[in-house]
Amino acid sequence: MAELGEGETVLDLGLGGGIDVLLSARRVGPTGKAYGLDMTDEMLDLARRNAAEAGAANAEFLKGHIEAVPLPDSSVDVVISNCVINLSVDKPAVLAEMHRVLRAGGRIGVSDVVAEDRLSPSERAERGSYVGCIAGCLSVGEYRDGLTAAGLTDISVTFTHPVADGLHAAIIRATKPA
Ligand SMILES: C[S@@+](CC[C@H](N)C(=O)[O-])C[C@H]1O[C@@H](n2cnc3c(N)ncnc32)[C@H](O)[C@@H]1O
Repeated sequence: MAELGEGETVLDLGLGGGIDVLLSARRVGPTGKAYGLDMTDEMLDLARRNAAEAGAANAEFLKGHIEAVPLPDSSVDVVISNCVINLSVDKPAVLAEMHRVLRAGGRIGVSDVVAEDRLSPSERAERGSYVGCIAGCLSVGEYRDGLTAAGLTDISVTFTHPVADGLHAAIIRATKPA
């Protein structure tokens, strides 16, 4: 989703068991840092156990909400996330937080479930539940508009595979202007 370089700082929104944080920590190396953010103690405990087993000294796990990220402005080079943003009930806040924590020139590389623009919110809800990562998903146009409103540029939304009629797994990339 994001090409990571040695020494970079990465933030994973909604880390789950932490696999993407651990892979990122390895890629950015000892001079870099990988943060994982999650709202549940269960996921944070699991991720910390996994990091200890992996010996990932440059991984750090934060408790909080993706709508109010507990990191300073302009502190991160890359924001990643896998199948989490669709779960948020305040997506404009999430997109604004991604922009806030990114350094100028920083980038996002996110995967999420995304709807074709032809599907209304109620048609999305007919295809699956909110907690099943279906009903809350944005459409391509909504993602583009939301990222643009947050101040991000160079936006792309690329479908990777279908998950239901008119719904796709997708990779979303964007940049914070330098
Ligand atoms: C579908 S799982 C994805 C986990 C992980 N990214 C993966 O690919 O395995 C969603 C995760 O996001 C977390 N999450 C959902 N909404 C959140 C929010 N608003 N703020 C912080 N974490 C949230 C959940 O606790 C859960 O760990």
